[in-house]
Amino acid sequence: MTKDFLSLFDITREDLDLLFELTDNLKSGNSGRPLEGKTVAMIFQKPSLRTRVSFEVGVMQLGGHITFLSQESIGVGTREAARDVARLLSRYCDAIVARMNDHTVLADLARSASIPVINALTDKSHPCQVLADAYTIRERGRLKPGIKVAFVGDGNNVVHSWLEFATLYPIHFALAAPQGYWPDESVVRRAQSSGVSSIEIVQDPVEAVRNAGVVYTDVWTSMGQESETAKRKKAFAGYQVNEELLAKARPDCLVMHCLPAHRGEEITDGVMEGPNSVVFDEAENRRLHVQKAVLVELFSSRSNGVKSSVSEDSTVA
Ligand code: CP
Ligand code: NVA
Repeated sequence: MTKDFLSLFDITREDLDLLFELTDNLKSGNSGRPLEGKTVAMIFQKPSLRTRVSFEVGVMQLGGHITFLSQESIGVGTREAARDVARLLSRYCDAIVARMNDHTVLADLARSASIPVINALTDKSHPCQVLADAYTIRERGRLKPGIKVAFVGDGNNVVHSWLEFATLYPIHFALAAPQGYWPDESVVRRAQSSGVSSIEIVQDPVEAVRNAGVVYTDVWTSMGQESETAKRKKAFAGYQVNEELLAKARPDCLVMHCLPAHRGEEITDGVMEGPNSVVFDEAENRRLHVQKAVLVELFSSRSNGVKSSVSEDSTVA
């Protein structure tokens, strides 16, 4: 793997297969303590339950330590420039896990850090999430070439990471979103031009979920967009993953959500708790298993002398 993990554009198909195999091993309890004596700094500019706790527990299980740095305490970009924070942390710590408002600031951090930087979510991309989602689908024996993944909702960070994934593994990705809430064209173009997957963007949720093996959703209002809540509730009113919509997908489809969920908005209680839902397995895989594999691989690549790949081209911005 390259030095950093900022988006799934940073990894190859070989890396993906390796990460899945490593996750299998870690999940079956064969981890050892590969992070013994290592300290991981976590910079979070936005709230988190799953990412923060699972990285903390995962690093501890691998024998390492975490130091958690909130935006309030270190002020990236306000108290101190991102590049100085990165240089400083590179002298104290062994890796940085960062949840940033702005993807370009994450790329600045990575460019200036001599240690690996892992994206724990930005406005543009959420690669740890989609890596674990794909692992969850694979674990159920359903990650087969051409599987239809229907995403109903906002064409935001999680959708971007599905588009990144679509350059690694052949899927049929169908997004249903109202116009104005579609993903960045540059990311769509990159996914399409890779020629690996089939990408469809429509306005009709029924069209998207037809024959889908996975039905995925996310909140209508992401972190940082709170002032748009009323406008978004109106725009996404017809985009709820409910029993009626689910009846149009394959009867055995997997229902996924990155969480946190706003039950009664983008997903009903019934669907979230229903037999098709794998949302809590997805959350467990993401954190306690897949993220550990990413850490182990980045550390092992580092000891093999891998250099940074961060450039205009390797970020989704
Ligand atoms: N899915 C996810 O990233 O959850 P948190 O925001 O709670 O970390
Ligand atoms: N799109 C959501 C994902 C949360 C895990 C957000 O950015 O808030």
